Amino acid sequence: MHQSLVENVFNSYLLVDIAYFKDRNSAELLNDLNVDIGNINKVCDNTVFFVITQLVSCLGGIAGLFIIDYRLSLLVFLFFPLKYFTVRFFSDQREKKMGQLLEKNTVFGHWFGDALNAIRDVRLFGLQKKMQQEVAGHVFGVADSQRQLNILQSMNLCSEVFLMHSMEVLLLLVGAYFILDKTLTLGSLFAFISYSMQVLEPISATLNLKFMFSGIIPSATRYFQLLDHTRQAQEFSGSAPVEQINSVEFKNVSFSYGENRVLNKANFVVQKGDKVAVIGANGSGKSTLFTLIERLAVPDEGQVLINGITAASFDLQKYRAAFAAVGQDSFLLNRTVEENVCMGSLCEAKNINDALARAGLRDLAFDDIVGENGKQISSGQRQKILFARALLRNTEWFLFDEITSNMDSEAARNLFGVLHDELKDKTVIMIVHDMKLLTHFDYILEVGRDCKVRMHQSYEATTVAETGSFVAAG
Ligand SMILES: Nc1ncnc2c1ncn2[C@@H]1O[C@H](COP(=O)(O)OP(=O)(O)OP(=O)(O)O)[C@@H](O)[C@H]1O
Ligand SMILES: [Mg+2]
Repeated sequence: MHQSLVENVFNSYLLVDIAYFKDRNSAELLNDLNVDIGNINKVCDNTVFFVITQLVSCLGGIAGLFIIDYRLSLLVFLFFPLKYFTVRFFSDQREKKMGQLLEKNTVFGHWFGDALNAIRDVRLFGLQKKMQQEVAGHVFGVADSQRQLNILQSMNLCSEVFLMHSMEVLLLLVGAYFILDKTLTLGSLFAFISYSMQVLEPISATLNLKFMFSGIIPSATRYFQLLDHTRQAQEFSGSAPVEQINSVEFKNVSFSYGENRVLNKANFVVQKGDKVAVIGANGSGKSTLFTLIERLAVPDEGQVLINGITAASFDLQKYRAAFAAVGQDSFLLNRTVEENVCMGSLCEAKNINDALARAGLRDLAFDDIVGENGKQISSGQRQKILFARALLRNTEWFLFDEITSNMDSEAARNLFGVLHDELKDKTVIMIVHDMKLLTHFDYILEVGRDCKVRMHQSYEATTVAETGSFVAAG
């Protein structure tokens, strides 16, 4: 069960809308996964099955009680509602507290991942003390919630013992009265009490299952929410085959991240073979354009059209395979150069060599490990690997997001050489900040701070290269 739950969660991560990861990091997700699956697994705890088998045997005990004395039996039945309501009270409390514990654990996991990612800067800026205080605060918060849960567990147990003993005392008192009244013998009373305990214990244990499940429900809810979220995200994949892409068009596309409007009725068309530079201030929405083309997000309004047909109608995997994209935050796996370039495809050594040479990457061997997201190589080398990866994909459409930002001038020159040579007939949409590069392109797509997108002809590029702004907004 544990294995299949982990696999289900990971499979969901592969399918769920990319926005799901927007404010979650890997340490937090792994932490949540372990906590939730550990909790859900308690459903298979042996005690659950033990209680169920005991319950069957106690039915016989109830019949026995009625045979000995029906009046005392009615008294025993008083126990059930009392136990039910106390368990319900403690279960509600526990579910609430468990929810709080999960929340604190998630926040702690997020903080932990964030702190470790920033460990270099934490040291450089001397934030160790602050981090120590913060970790102590998080650990205390989690431990405090755990302690409250333990107290609730003890209180539930104490209430059970109290109820059982009270019932025993009540039976003794009422039984003594019946003995004095000569309607019950002493032997029958003790037989009744010993039988009744055999009945009360399994019933109590059964009602306690509610208490046990109250500790599982918050984790199970989170788990099923993820599966639901995944099912909804999958609805966006159509089934139309992807043949040749002749045009990508944004038609009245508006898009926001929450309240933050990024694009407002964006309209433009890129035709096959065009070389388009995308420019705009930081945060204006350039990378978001790529996110929408790659169908990692869906427009709030309007449509992204491929050959005039809505992009959502195409088979998602085949659609994405039609683009070779290098994102600003494209990730390198902690594997070899070769694996990072081929990305799961079977590729011949000669082709890898060609791609690496065209990307200008000479100083790394095929089997060099690059480290997590290229931590063991330089930023420029990282970009060259990403460029080689895109070239090897051998598609007609290329999306490059600031691909030259860390490249040296020779590497950048080399890249534009490839753009005008090997990629001469391909479509390239490239986000750039260096206005001098605009002369390499046929069109310039300007993403404005006003959330509008404007397409400019290439001749205007010369003006921009010289002055940094357009003569006329087209
Ligand atoms: N995953 C996200 N969640 C929430 N807001 C986001 C997310 N990604 C981007 N944004 C916001 O959307 C806006 C546009 O971001 P985008 O990354 O598209 O800008 P950009 O033009 O590529 O900027 P830059 O030149 O700095 O790369 C910004 O205001 C940014 O804060
Ligand atoms: Mg960007």
